[in-house]
Amino acid sequence: MKAHKISDRIYALHADVKTEDLFEGIWPIPDGVSLNSYLVRGDKIALIDLVRDWGGAPAALEAGLAEAGIALADVDYLVLNHLEPDHTGWLADFRRRNPRVRILATAKGVELVKNFYKVAEGIEAVKTGDSLDLGAGLVLSFIEAPNVHWPETMVTFEPASGTLFSCDAFGSFGMLGDRVFDDEFGPMEHRRFEAESLRYYTNIIASFGAFVKRAIDKIAELDVRVVAPSHGIVWRKDPMAIIDRYRKYASYLEGGREKEVCVIWGSMYGNTEKGLEAAIRGLEDEGVPFTMHRVPNEDVSYILADAYKSEGILVAMPTYEYKMFPPMAYVLDLMDRKHVWGRQALRIGSWGWIGGARKEYEEAIAPLKWQSVESVEWAGAADEATLAHLRERGAELARRVKAAS
Ligand code: FEO
Repeated sequence: MKAHKISDRIYALHADVKTEDLFEGIWPIPDGVSLNSYLVRGDKIALIDLVRDWGGAPAALEAGLAEAGIALADVDYLVLNHLEPDHTGWLADFRRRNPRVRILATAKGVELVKNFYKVAEGIEAVKTGDSLDLGAGLVLSFIEAPNVHWPETMVTFEPASGTLFSCDAFGSFGMLGDRVFDDEFGPMEHRRFEAESLRYYTNIIASFGAFVKRAIDKIAELDVRVVAPSHGIVWRKDPMAIIDRYRKYASYLEGGREKEVCVIWGSMYGNTEKGLEAAIRGLEDEGVPFTMHRVPNEDVSYILADAYKSEGILVAMPTYEYKMFPPMAYVLDLMDRKHVWGRQALRIGSWGWIGGARKEYEEAIAPLKWQSVESVEWAGAADEATLAHLRERGAELARRVKAAS
């Protein structure tokens, strides 16, 4: 893999991972993911963030270093902004190849290095305000950024080039290929990465939105000219584009969400589906756009992305054995874990020989603090009066979405 020059002495290195594996063992990555590392060449040599032994990533990293004329054994410092194993899984092997390397992480990061890799020597803790002078005019400054993504996380800033090494913050799913910089991708590619950054944010970071806001406020004090995350595009032409995008995502926690509805539905024999068609006509009557996701056919990873940005949620599911349609229970559980809170919501669905979904649904959404339009349930197939009622409830949801602040 190529070494891409950010400045005379700073290089972006990355490994594209194309795999059937799920990211974090949960999230599909059909377009793969990049694991980015950065080489900073002062009189001393620092490598910022590592890779895991996944899809040939260590060989790609080593090849990138070699292209910049650096061998693993030449690296003096390894800066670990974040200890999740996608960025550190190769640490033990790396250290075997370079036993003299000094590892820098936050105090909590040092503990995680011990826990994950049983490494206690050659490692030191850094905190906000600490810096590392590499010589040749290059200084790395460390800024703790807890919970973006784990509690031990920090970001690293190099002021001469204005490069912010932000690790998970400002990242996305998706492979990069042989380009890494924002100005090297066309509008269609940016659209793809934008969708993948939202999906990445909602799947990986969303539980920590309040911390993302705090981290963005902290870095606002810096003269950031390049955003260099550990997944996805390196932003040198318009670094504020990705910072503002993340600020918007974080703000969705409090409101200002898109005036649209995320429809999540499942149907056993078409009766709930037919009722849903009527409710959707109600959304259309009010001119509110919507996205549609069928469960379990679609992965929840994509549902979360649309639900997170949408002010409205329409849940359509039948009763299944006295309770909710089982895949919807999983979706609603993740809505809470990923803080899809405070939405305008409507739930509809058919039941066959007995109801029951309503009770379990209401228990499931209680912690989400959704503002609910009254549910509509019906036995078997919806009659004309029920279909009209569903259409009106859909329209009511749409009006609430339009009125929300
Ligand atoms: Fe890319 Fe939280 O690790």
